[in-house]
Amino acid sequence: MPSVQIRPTSAEIDLGAMRHNLRAIRRLAGAGTGVCAVVKANAYGHGLVRVALELERDGVEFLAVNTTEEGLELREAGVAAPILLMGGVFADAHRLVARERLTPVVCRKDDLQAFARVAGDRALPIHLKFDTGMGRLGFWPEQVGEVLSLCQQSTALRVEGLMTHLASAEMLDRDEEVGAQLASFEEVRKAFQAAGIEPRYVHAANSAALARFPEARYTLVRPGLLLYGALPGRDARLALDLKPAMSVRTEVVHLRDFPEGHGVSYGRQFVTPRPSRIATLPIGYADGIPRRFSPGGQVLVRGRRAPVVGAVCMDMLMVDTTDIPGVCRGDEVVLLGRQGEEELRAEDLAEQFQTIAYEVFCAFTARVPRIYRSNEEGI
Ligand SMILES: Cc1ncc(COP(=O)(O)O)c(C=O)c1O
Repeated sequence: MPSVQIRPTSAEIDLGAMRHNLRAIRRLAGAGTGVCAVVKANAYGHGLVRVALELERDGVEFLAVNTTEEGLELREAGVAAPILLMGGVFADAHRLVARERLTPVVCRKDDLQAFARVAGDRALPIHLKFDTGMGRLGFWPEQVGEVLSLCQQSTALRVEGLMTHLASAEMLDRDEEVGAQLASFEEVRKAFQAAGIEPRYVHAANSAALARFPEARYTLVRPGLLLYGALPGRDARLALDLKPAMSVRTEVVHLRDFPEGHGVSYGRQFVTPRPSRIATLPIGYADGIPRRFSPGGQVLVRGRRAPVVGAVCMDMLMVDTTDIPGVCRGDEVVLLGRQGEEELRAEDLAEQFQTIAYEVFCAFTARVPRIYRSNEEGI
């Protein structure tokens, strides 16, 4: 990041809110179940290193990343906590992964063999993943006998974890599918148990499963979205008190009165239907505001909702403030978060624009500086 911040556009990350959310997760998970905090993809846009260090201090049992590169970045930043590498190992990175004490999720026989070869004197902890219905990564449940005998043959590896990933835990009409995945995972777990392998960590629950399926909690849960204060579906809100950790703000940098019939932005997709007061904001699709944010998107100015008008540009967008009295150049504008009595939540934006809250968070690019706030309750 550049050392100066002049453009008044930033994402504020409330670490107190994240601590609050972690406490809510721990209450839900119950005693005896650890938390593997999912911080992949730049902690869903909240900032990988800063968020991981904070969660490590708060005592999470694991941090989960997707790539080896993310794991290495955390080790370089001094993170000592166990790091689960969920996205598989590419090229010949097995030795590097072992040396940096990243805990690999192993989904293939050749990876099992490669890790056995590079393990040092002490058995290398690994987590085995079974694909019970996600259709992405993992051994098939039918391979359990084969995987078991490979693990039993090797003293170089220690099966520390057994895991699966659920495909539709947030969908209210798919409980049967989730049940079938969990039943299949139970079969795998029992086969390991019968063979005398009882991994310390058994895990299946992402945020939605943690909130909706107590039987998925086992001995470790893997929440991502809940940590950041958003819900993956509409069901869990009832049970959980979460605080959104990210808010995105900018300021009115230009404010002008337009006559009726004047075009706004590329392609004149919006033409003022009346004399209008149009504000220009220094944030655009290069910052993570999708072009489909217009028409239909809203921002908060002076505690009121103002519609986005005209096409979202790479670096700017325009809003109609005609109906909001007193707007001035320099006024704070909220794109995500709270202002006065109004709030724009990632879940609501996602619903409005047919996407998911995950994508709303991840969309904010490196050009938007993350500013961290850390008061205890995140208020
Ligand atoms: C394997 C795995 N576990 C857990 C998570 C966390 O999911 P969520 O953010 O819904 O809690 C993810 C995220 O995609 C994942 O890929």
